[in-house]
Amino acid sequence: MVQHRNEYLAWATEAAAYIARSAGCEGFDTVVQCGSGLNGLIDAVLPEGGRIPMEDIPHFPASRVKGHGREVIHGQVRGRNVMVLAGRIHLYEGHDPLTAGFPAALAHASGARRFILTNAAGGLNQHFVQGSVMMITDFINFQGDNALAHMLTDEAAQRFVDPKPATDLRQGQLLARQLQKAGLKVNQGTYIGVRGPIYETRAELAMMRSWGADAIGMSTIPELTVCHAFGLPALGVSVITNECFKDAPVTHGEVVDVGSQVSPALGTAFRAFIEDLP
Ligand code: HPA
Repeated sequence: MVQHRNEYLAWATEAAAYIARSAGCEGFDTVVQCGSGLNGLIDAVLPEGGRIPMEDIPHFPASRVKGHGREVIHGQVRGRNVMVLAGRIHLYEGHDPLTAGFPAALAHASGARRFILTNAAGGLNQHFVQGSVMMITDFINFQGDNALAHMLTDEAAQRFVDPKPATDLRQGQLLARQLQKAGLKVNQGTYIGVRGPIYETRAELAMMRSWGADAIGMSTIPELTVCHAFGLPALGVSVITNECFKDAPVTHGEVVDVGSQVSPALGTAFRAFIEDLP
């Protein structure tokens, strides 16, 4: 897909308006995106949240893999309107990164002041143990494509975007503290995004570690890129579902299992973070 920035934003605005109307509110303060196996965080963040199927939302990209639980959950945390997105678009389904980044445009169009991204990731840093989490403080785009290469703009400044710092470090520190309080082991580091869906060879892993990447996954970069395009503060949390340099093969089952074990604590931390926002 190639789309003009104005049209992309107009689509996001229509999607945001539909959600706000369904939720009976004006917009959203905080948006959370669930990564693979991490839908378990929803009950801790919004136990009584209303639900909207993603397929009912205008312009919302449809997943090409058989979906389960593709929904937007909405509710309030201490008077703040919060939206949680369960179900993500991945490049390995053949989507382009502008489509995959649509949730970030939606968050921006909803008036959000922060977008919290989560994902399941392999640990490249040998100090990162399975079941720990990593605050994403920087990223490497190794997906072979860029969301903004699919977005037409009238102004150079909207095209040539500088993504530094990669995530909101001040809000990230506050969130990291809550993750620790929720009992999780927390590190920070650089996320490298690949297209997938194949896991990595040993040679690839060694290369990426030597580049300074601490965790690897198949998502998140498109959304982070679109956050930068619209100036939306982003936070990213990787759940380390597997240790890449272990000899045992990685399986999707393991990734999802570890994700579901960690997600309630993740949700508890997110809720506490939102409750404590100034
Ligand atoms: N590699 C790529 N993506 C992943 C991994 C991995 O080891 N674990 C979870 N997502």
